[in-house]
Formats: sequence, C-alpha cells, structure tokens
Amino acid sequence: MIAALAGGQDLAVPVGCGNFAPPRVLMGRLEALADELERPDHPWLGAGERTRLTAITSQRRREQFLAGRILARRLLCDALGGCAADWPLSVNAHGKPTLPNRPDIHVSITHSGPFVACAVGNAELGLDVELIEPRRHTEDLIRMTCNAAELAQLDDLRDSERALHFIGIWTVKEAALKQSGEAFSVAQLSRIRWRFAQAADATITSWYFGNQRMVLSLASREAAHAQLELPPACTSTGIEWRVLEEAL
Ligand SMILES: CC(C)(COP(=O)(O)OP(=O)(O)OC[C@H]1O[C@@H](n2cnc3c(N)ncnc32)[C@H](O)[C@@H]1OP(=O)(O)O)[C@@H](O)C(=O)NCCC(=O)NCCS
Repeated sequence: MIAALAGGQDLAVPVGCGNFAPPRVLMGRLEALADELERPDHPWLGAGERTRLTAITSQRRREQFLAGRILARRLLCDALGGCAADWPLSVNAHGKPTLPNRPDIHVSITHSGPFVACAVGNAELGLDVELIEPRRHTEDLIRMTCNAAELAQLDDLRDSERALHFIGIWTVKEAALKQSGEAFSVAQLSRIRWRFAQAADATITSWYFGNQRMVLSLASREAAHAQLELPPACTSTGIEWRVLEEAL
C-alpha cells in the first residue's frame, strides 16, 4: 500500500481507494481500547506525537491522547490503507491535528471523560463531545460564552432542558472553532452566532445519545451526511445547526 512520496517530503503515503466524502466519525470508550492503551510502548506513533505524549503527566489525559490517535488510525487505515505507523499526526500552531503526508485529508479529535471520538473528512472539520453533567462552574461558563440571545433562550428553559441546550450550544461553538483551526478564546466562543437549520443548509450536526446525557457535534460542510459509528448500544438523535459565517 505504501506507494508514493509526498511532494518531495520524506514521507511514505499510503494509497487506498476509499475517501472521506461524506466524513466519518468514530467514537469509542477508553475501556474498550484498554488492551492497546496499556501496552508499554506504541511504536506506531510519530516522533512528534511521542514527544507530546511524554509531556503529558495525567494518566487519563495520556489515555485520551492515545485513544484519539488509535481511532484516527483505524479510520485512515480502513479507508486509505497502510498501517498505523504510516499516518503520523502533527498539529498546527494552535493545536489542531494535521496529517503531514495527506494535507488534503482533515482530522479532528475530542474526548470527554471515558469517551473519545475522531472525525476524518475531505474538507476542514471540527468535532466536540461533552457529557451533560452537573458542573460547579456551568453558570459561569454560560455567562462567559453565551450572547444575549442565547442567554434569553436559556432563561426560558427548566434546569434539565437548560443544561441540555447549553451543552448543545457549547459543542456547536467548540466544533466551529476547531474547524477553523484558530486559537481558542472565551471571547471567540461568545462571538459565534448560529441558527437551527435543515440538513440541506446545515454546517453542524449534533447527536444526542446515552439517554440525552451526551452531545457530539461535528462542524463540516457535509455534517448532515456523516457516517457515525458510536459504541455498541448507543442510539442517537440528530439536530442540524448553521453557524453564521460572518461571526467566525
Ligand atoms: C482546544 C481546547 C479548548 C479543546 O478543549 P476541550 O473541549 O476540553 O477538549 P476536547 O477533548 O474536545 O478537544 C481536545 C482536542 O482538540 C484538538 N485541538 C486542540 N487545539 C485545537 C485547535 N486550535 N483547533 C482544532 N482542534 C484542536 C486536539 O486534538 C485535542 O486533543 P489531543 O490533544 O488529545 O489531540 C483545548 O485543547 C485547549 O484548551 N486549548 C488551548 C487553551 C485555550 O486556549 N483555552 C481556552 C478555552 S476557551
């Protein structure tokens, strides 16, 4: 499968017949990946990934970092061939994952608690997953990241619906910023404007699952048609949004 050198760079490019139109999203649980995560070494990681992993001290964070890369390799090898070592991930100046040997393929990674997910597509994309759980700072976060219209919507909702809608908004904003690949700031989050949309003009799709306890949002021009692979026994309902471009 290793067939070419990428644009003069010293990188082998696996060539497969698959592609990522529509984008694919793969989500898993850390415990389901335990066999791979617990191996003492991960020789398939690229040098840059290895350096980043070494700098992570929290065990949970190391597992999340590795799990995101395992899922990315599964998607890439499945569609394009090669083995895990053929698909090193790098990051842009702001931390967005990139594929140095296939810059035409785009990757986004997210994790929340024991869940990790990866999206791969032929166009820029951003993925964010959040668990809906009581948090000490939820009200502070709402005030920092929501604009006046969103605050008014949230104020009309009962507590459980308020938490659900806020996390939906939050993941939409994070997914949109991740898609842009820019630096993150609270000010940018609060500037983003959106409206609900139909599949035909959606730029973000959110899936609610786990008895409405989790939200996964994908920002992509083909989000509504994404192929979603959730852990076993997870069923989801989707909502379409459109982020207003002038706000980004
Ligand atoms: C980007 C960020 C805000 C996402 O945080 P989060 O929602 O808690 O975490 P998620 O699990 O959803 O996403 C983390 C993943 O996003 C990706 N990512 C990081 N920065 C990114 C960026 N600028 N654009 C796109 N993706 C990015 C990475 O793949 C990262 O996972 P990895 O390090 O294991 O590869 C976080 O990585 C961060 O804090 N970055 C810089 C600090 C900052 O500016 N904070 C302000 C917060 S408003």
